[in-house]
Amino acid sequence: MSTIPGPKGLPLLGSLPDMQRDPLHFLMSLYSEYGDVVRFRFGPEVLYLISHPRDLKRVFQENGKNYTKQTRVWQKLAPVFGRGLLTNDGDSWLRQRRIAQPAFHHERVAAIAAIVSGATAARLKQWQRHSTVDVLAEMMELTLDILTEALFGLDWKTESRRFSEAVNVVLHHINAQTRSILYYIPTAVPIPANLRFVRALHTVHEMVGRIIQDRRRSGGDRGDLLSFLMNARDAETGETMSDAQLMDEIKTFLVAGHETTANALAWTFFLLGKQPQTRRALTQEVARLSSRAPTLQDLPQLQLTGRVLRESMRLYPPVWFLGRRATQPDRLGEHALPAGAIVMPSFYVTHHRSDIWSDPEGFDPDRFLPDRFSPLPAFSFVPFGGGPRQCIGNEFALLEMQIVVAMLHQQTHLELLPEQVVEPEPAVTLRIKNGIKMRLIH
Ligand code: HEM
Repeated sequence: MSTIPGPKGLPLLGSLPDMQRDPLHFLMSLYSEYGDVVRFRFGPEVLYLISHPRDLKRVFQENGKNYTKQTRVWQKLAPVFGRGLLTNDGDSWLRQRRIAQPAFHHERVAAIAAIVSGATAARLKQWQRHSTVDVLAEMMELTLDILTEALFGLDWKTESRRFSEAVNVVLHHINAQTRSILYYIPTAVPIPANLRFVRALHTVHEMVGRIIQDRRRSGGDRGDLLSFLMNARDAETGETMSDAQLMDEIKTFLVAGHETTANALAWTFFLLGKQPQTRRALTQEVARLSSRAPTLQDLPQLQLTGRVLRESMRLYPPVWFLGRRATQPDRLGEHALPAGAIVMPSFYVTHHRSDIWSDPEGFDPDRFLPDRFSPLPAFSFVPFGGGPRQCIGNEFALLEMQIVVAMLHQQTHLELLPEQVVEPEPAVTLRIKNGIKMRLIH
């Protein structure tokens, strides 16, 4: 077995400056220069970049039990997610996943379609008064409106901006913490960045606390996620979930479910703005529904819309990297991975590899046509991760995005403003730096 290749980097810092400057470019260059498994240093840590579908399958599925979430980035996310589903591990994770799963069963997802179309119609109505929109900010609010109604039975339309802004501050801070000097400054030190973070976190906690109190007051089983979480009883002790665990789960769903979907939608509108021909074809496809809001039954007919969304998530996967720690030594292809190694699967790199995708930088939704997509190896396209820890909301997200894109193109479309610079911001999710303003064509 061969030793794992990689750059030497600077003394002490390793490749930290490269990673800070332009992480997407840096990771792609590591792959191009060193191949499937790359060893590099990030300050005091050694990381192993992986992107080959075979290795992703190994880490997420075949030998998934060997890989935990005990890594620095996950630890930095603990103030937001605590021991919620995303950051939890082992038996405790499995128990919580089983409790939450029924809220995402197929029958439930059908009911969610009506919630999505209602919230989208309301948002599009507001847009009638505008000639331009800040697409990312609007999608953040819309996805939060949808999520809060679908999972927690709330009408949060007046609150979603406050929550979304607070989450933005929190994630921004965590991102800075994982990539800069802030990492070494404890949160308790009252520098402005820490004070902003603590204030925003307080807003998040206070708003989530209110969700729990309100449902306790109203009571009843509404068949939504909140009911499943609040009514679940431990098989042995008969106890319900503690308030702390409940808070962690709700925060996790609110943050994991809205940021990712909003970014994917904003990137989709950007790409359609650059590709008017595809946009016109998509408009024709949705016109077949006349002016009626799409239902769950219509979605299989919106094939191009589905392919455009997949191509958008291939080019700009909202979750562009993850982290796992190997408990025991493992073998990735021809390489031996030591116990304790931190692997960094990068979906961005996987989705841009030229040995998997022809013309990987090009926009080509038809690469997802079955005859072209089916021959690709499993784990070539992984916007939702894979194996047992795959995104619990993937069906929800796909349905939601398809309905939002279809309804928007039934009424209007968005055009790019000339001279606007649109750049990715690889933070915790792959965002659009400074958002994106687009012109509404009524
Ligand atoms: C385009 C939208 C979305 C993308 C790209 C996305 C992506 C992902 C990925 C890659 C993971 C795996 C993380 C890991 O293995 O470490 C994940 C997990 C998760 N996602 Fe999503 N997600 C999206 C939408 C949603 C939605 C709508 C919800 C909630 C309704 C949601 C809730 C979660 C939760 C709770 C987990 C943790 C699951 C577990 O570990 O059991 N996500 N997501």
